Amino acid sequence: MSAEREIEFWQTLDPTAYVKPQGLTDATLGALLPAIGKSTGVKRPRVLDLGCGDGRLAIPVAKALPKAGKVIGVDVSQGALDLASTHAEVDGVKFEGMLCEDGRTLPDVKRLDAAFSITLFQHLPREAVAALITQVAMYLKKGGVFRFQFVEGDSDEFLTQKYPSSVIGQICQGAGLQAEFERGLVHDCWMWVTAVKG
Ligand SMILES: C[S@@+](CC[C@H](N)C(=O)[O-])C[C@H]1O[C@@H](n2cnc3c(N)ncnc32)[C@H](O)[C@@H]1O
Repeated sequence: MSAEREIEFWQTLDPTAYVKPQGLTDATLGALLPAIGKSTGVKRPRVLDLGCGDGRLAIPVAKALPKAGKVIGVDVSQGALDLASTHAEVDGVKFEGMLCEDGRTLPDVKRLDAAFSITLFQHLPREAVAALITQVAMYLKKGGVFRFQFVEGDSDEFLTQKYPSSVIGQICQGAGLQAEFERGLVHDCWMWVTAVKG
């Protein structure tokens, strides 16, 4: 599948489709918030949600930040970004949506204190995962945390991509991130990564 077809798929998908049972969202936030807590305890934290969708996680994360904090949501779908912005407005939190036009090159998100990405890398081919992790690392401040999950295994199929932990570890190492792995939170097949910028 070409990157263009992949992006077309996401751009034509109804972003309300990402709605998940509240219990799953709460469990995901439970696995996410403590890991980024230390890097976001600063006065004006800037936190990236890569592949933010409708803001299901970006909005509660923004609520958990200090008042001057902001979540920058990046997505290939303008429809998803618009929906996330509407949700942020209703909830009165700071959110800035930015389009990732080619699904491989981050827009200029500027200095980040922390970043996260949930249910994205299991849909992306290896070159996209490598490019995005490397660029997130470039924008992260020293000591900043990138918390993300992927599906562990070995499969190269559109929408059901699985990676050995060694592959993700190598990508993180090449990007200057020190990665720790944690298996089985939220879903048995999910591998969680806390990657710290050295
Ligand atoms: C399954 S949804 C998950 C949304 C959100 N992270 C959540 O957990 O509710 C995947 C999201 O990633 C976006 N996406 C897909 N490929 C992307 C890419 N290469 N770069 C950035 N976002 C992408 C899609 O448009 C979609 O909004």
